[in-house]
Amino acid sequence: MLRWVDGRPGETLSSLDRGLAYGDGLFETIAVCHARPRLLEYHLQRLADGCRRLSIPLDAKLLRAELLAFTGELGEGVAKLIVTRGDAGRGYAPPAEAEPRRLLLGSPWPSYPDANATQGIELFPCATRLAEQPLLAGLKHLNRLEQVIARGEWQDPRFAEGLMRDLSGRVVEGVFSNLFLVRQGRLITADLGRCGVAGVMRRWLLEQAAARQIAVEIRDIDYAELFRADELFLCNSLYGIWPVCRLDRHDWPVGALTRKLQGILRTLLDF
Ligand SMILES: Cc1ncc(COP(=O)(O)O)c(C=O)c1O
Repeated sequence: MLRWVDGRPGETLSSLDRGLAYGDGLFETIAVCHARPRLLEYHLQRLADGCRRLSIPLDAKLLRAELLAFTGELGEGVAKLIVTRGDAGRGYAPPAEAEPRRLLLGSPWPSYPDANATQGIELFPCATRLAEQPLLAGLKHLNRLEQVIARGEWQDPRFAEGLMRDLSGRVVEGVFSNLFLVRQGRLITADLGRCGVAGVMRRWLLEQAAARQIAVEIRDIDYAELFRADELFLCNSLYGIWPVCRLDRHDWPVGALTRKLQGILRTLLDF
């Protein structure tokens, strides 16, 4: 598969890379269709915001040019972009003159069952909780051990995704997705100010809802509130929207607003 390191085809990485030593970096997982990265500006904006918050001096123009050249060559599939603070010696102190490293990894399109999007999925209630850290909340940073532990909680293929809560039991997101509830025609999604990844698909859907006068609430969500919702769905930038049809012995139909948003995705983003 196609792999680039710092703009050139390559496989190998310095053993001094701070991404490896400390998870000192960020990543984006980008759908590539017809040689074009989908939701490019949203991915680049989240990455730039992360670099600003972590003081990683990334050359945004260079990165965009590399990503476009890479996705042009990849054609179809998934481009994983990893940015690290680059190499440094021992010690946590960020080097004054960091040279950020860029990795681009191509992979084929994931083979999700069609039924995930049409009939919905069963959600596994993960016991692993997300820690709260406002300094990192929303970012797609390289420290993903909570997700690694959570994804190890189930092997049963009946569950396509897992639900993650924070230490107080509030609903935050999926293991690799964001979550929306629908109640009386209103869209509700978790406030990600303490933990969670602010997904680009979540952002896109929130903007689409606002443009169509669909009421939106971004706030804390109790676990019990899920079971009073009319509809539940998950989203991410690779699969679009998956309705949730079962969690903790509770069933939901695939609702009208979920279907409507799937239709908008199909029309505007060709999902
Ligand atoms: C923990 C987590 N939350 C949310 C998302 C959804 O993000 P996006 O819409 O940018 O794909 C992901 C994507 O992989 C994720 O890993």
